[in-house]
Amino acid sequence: MSQTLKKLWQRGCDFLGTETAIMGGAMSWVSERNLVAAISNAGGFGVIASGAMPPELLNEEIKGTQALTNKPFGVNLITMHPKISDLIDVCIERNVGHIVLAGGLPSAEAIKKIKSANIKLICFAPTLSIAQKLVKLGADALVIEGHEAGGHIGPVSTSVLAQEILPHLKDVPIFVAGGIGRGEAIGTYLKMGASGCQLGTRFVCATESKAHPKFKHAFIKANARNAVVSAQLDSRFPVIPVRALANKATQDFTKYQQEIIVKVNNGELEQKAAQLEIEHFWAGALRRAVVEGDIETGSVMAGQSVGMVTAEQPTKEIINELIEQASVYLQ
Ligand SMILES: Cc1cc2nc3c(=O)[nH]c(=O)nc-3n(C[C@H](O)[C@H](O)[C@H](O)COP(=O)(O)O)c2cc1C
Repeated sequence: MSQTLKKLWQRGCDFLGTETAIMGGAMSWVSERNLVAAISNAGGFGVIASGAMPPELLNEEIKGTQALTNKPFGVNLITMHPKISDLIDVCIERNVGHIVLAGGLPSAEAIKKIKSANIKLICFAPTLSIAQKLVKLGADALVIEGHEAGGHIGPVSTSVLAQEILPHLKDVPIFVAGGIGRGEAIGTYLKMGASGCQLGTRFVCATESKAHPKFKHAFIKANARNAVVSAQLDSRFPVIPVRALANKATQDFTKYQQEIIVKVNNGELEQKAAQLEIEHFWAGALRRAVVEGDIETGSVMAGQSVGMVTAEQPTKEIINELIEQASVYLQ
């Protein structure tokens, strides 16, 4: 590792307690104990995706991860989970060092509970003003994630978010995410003031990842342009933007919305019921793709960096490649 790289991400490494400031972004169904431990054992920072897990399952997952690594790792909790408070209790009981709160602004209670247990709190910041607000509320670090990322995404690209936020917020370490496939990009964001980076897509095809072989194969075959954002046809029916590989499901979703809109326009369906039907279209779709390998009717969430995923590789090799590329670029 080059001395420049070491120096540039030192703050991020100190915060995470790791040798590299590479976070493995939590990915529902993908970021379970095996991948999380592999990332942490390779010198990065693995993060468990708790998704919709009940507290008992999260407890088992943390316990399982702790059995596979003695290195630091984090837990990603979704702020609107109905049992968020119990999930935080599980993290406290299991001595988790870092919690990442995703999926909307966290409540003051959640923040207070995490902070009073001396757990380091990482939050997602979609704008500079929200970033400043989150720091005031107690966030110890921030992730800024751009439109290029896989999964649920915001409207602004990573490069613009980085320019808008990094020069103006120095109080806490900031990790940049979205569209990062190579070490040179990590080097660039570090030079701009980031303390580290978070990658998701790049780790899906790690040998240790338990994602279904068909899910991995779809990643290996895909190009950047295949990772598209879910379409919204009518502003009366908002669609949460998700980036995933185009497949039968993404096409069906468009047709499905069209049918629903016609029904509403004809007075056959109430607007509220229609919105619920649209939201339910994707229920269970990520699990179907990741766990069952149904890459046609499932949701194959992937970021634009998917084009840089060309083979299944051990996690350690992926992290070493990123370090090497960043080191050469920065020297
Ligand atoms: C399959 C998949 C599932 C994801 N699930 C979650 C999630 O449950 N919680 C979350 O905060 N982010 C989730 N993400 C986002 C990642 O944590 C990470 O921030 C993102 O992948 C970074 O962008 P990249 O894919 O371009 O590397 C997911 C991403 C993917 C590809």
